[in-house]
Amino acid sequence: MTAGRKPFFFDTTLRDGNQALKKPWNTQQKEIIFKELIKLGVQAVEVGFSGSNDMDFEACQYLASIAPKNMVIAGLARAVEKDILKVYEAIKIADKPRIHIVLAMSPFNMKYVLRKEPKDVRKIGIDAVKYAKSLIKENGDIQFSVEHFGDCKDNLSFVIDSLQEIIEAGADVINLPNTVERIRPLEFVKMVSAVSKELSDKAIISVHNHNDLGMATAATVESFFAGATQLECCLNGLGERAGNTNLYEVAICLHNCGVEVPLNLSEIYETALTVSEMSGIPIHEKMPLIGEDALAHRSGIHQDGASKTQGMKKGAYRPIHPSLIGRDDDEKFGFTSQSGKTALYEIIKREGYPITVEEAVRLVDIAKKESEKIGELPIDMILNIYIKEIYEIDGAFKFISFKKLDNCEKEKFNLKFSHNGKEHDVTEHGDGPLECCLKALGDIGFPLKLTHYEQSAFGEEAKGVQADAMTTIQLETPDGRKILCRGKDPSTAKANVKAIFNGLNLIYG
Ligand code: KIV
Ligand code: ZN
Repeated sequence: MTAGRKPFFFDTTLRDGNQALKKPWNTQQKEIIFKELIKLGVQAVEVGFSGSNDMDFEACQYLASIAPKNMVIAGLARAVEKDILKVYEAIKIADKPRIHIVLAMSPFNMKYVLRKEPKDVRKIGIDAVKYAKSLIKENGDIQFSVEHFGDCKDNLSFVIDSLQEIIEAGADVINLPNTVERIRPLEFVKMVSAVSKELSDKAIISVHNHNDLGMATAATVESFFAGATQLECCLNGLGERAGNTNLYEVAICLHNCGVEVPLNLSEIYETALTVSEMSGIPIHEKMPLIGEDALAHRSGIHQDGASKTQGMKKGAYRPIHPSLIGRDDDEKFGFTSQSGKTALYEIIKREGYPITVEEAVRLVDIAKKESEKIGELPIDMILNIYIKEIYEIDGAFKFISFKKLDNCEKEKFNLKFSHNGKEHDVTEHGDGPLECCLKALGDIGFPLKLTHYEQSAFGEEAKGVQADAMTTIQLETPDGRKILCRGKDPSTAKANVKAIFNGLNLIYG
């Protein structure tokens, strides 16, 4: 059904989206959105409803004058001559102008809103298209929308017959709107499929779905597979009531289905932020793809999967890699009482601090307890826990001071510390602070072997934290237990000694 067909994106943010704003856009504001649409690469833009007021007429005229070649520029008109003429006047300057005529054909609307017989409605449609054709001739095209198509299940053959005549009168595109989402997507798609079977060799079939029940994306995507080539969408899902089909969701869903989507997908996120700012409508944090939280992980299980698959095109718990839509965050982790070691490990590592998974395990229970009180932990709080639990480990051993004494043959150091409250004051010779310190501890019955040593700067890469010297060492007990421990201090010698005391407290409690 899709062989050889690429989706054709017709964006109606500046018309359907704009008409539902509390403060509709003026020309300058529309131009900002229009430029986003150009960057995204949508093939058609409905610039407005030029018959509604002078401001919109001028906006339509201006946007038509700056539109890139090859971009279809549409304007909406009711099936009345004065509207159609206004649209024509507004957009005729575009390289590819399109007059878009809308007329309801559902039994309910014809009876209660138009208050006309179906045969008269059909004639109005045919006459409107003929009039539009007489204006635009071969210089552009005509789109005809069956308003409330989603409500036309019971008179579908009337609609199809009417559309045959409307196409003969000059319509090039037949748009099938689910003006109010009342039926389930599958039923709507079946109707789209029926129209496509009859008419897709004579006109382009289009869909325009509203999102009243939250299924507009599903209806639009499935309509593409059922024969609709043109997909009408809005940026950020703007539009009347609960909005129109969200362009980003449709584009990404089709992309994920392996359909070639002729849009610059990496522009999506920035576009979404601009549209939110311009419309004054915040992006809900749970909004698919563009919401603050849409690609974040908080549960331990999800964080584990996300961490193991980060950087991959397909992640364990996300629909896309964020970079596909221009988001610069990789897997995003938040730490709550539902989270696990992986989140702490990832968060701390990303802040530029060294940590191992084993160390993260040591922090989990403390962090969870804090989170039980306040919910998601801010980064600063996580880092405080990290510093306290990794660099200032509490226990039986307390480091008091460390001083280098006058040079003899070997270096000479004085170390003061306490163990279970008992103070020790020792002076040792050795090849540096670590050796002296280990000797002193051996003398009082805590022999330890140094099996790994590393020096680096602490906090160098982290914002707002002064760089300290950092020592990472591995100590081995006589019974073969190995432990990684760290120390930090402005003095390298003290950082070394503190690392040993942190290790002692880890080993002996
Ligand atoms: O929802 C609708 O039916 C419309 C038409 C103008 C296409 O917006
Ligand atoms: Zn609409």
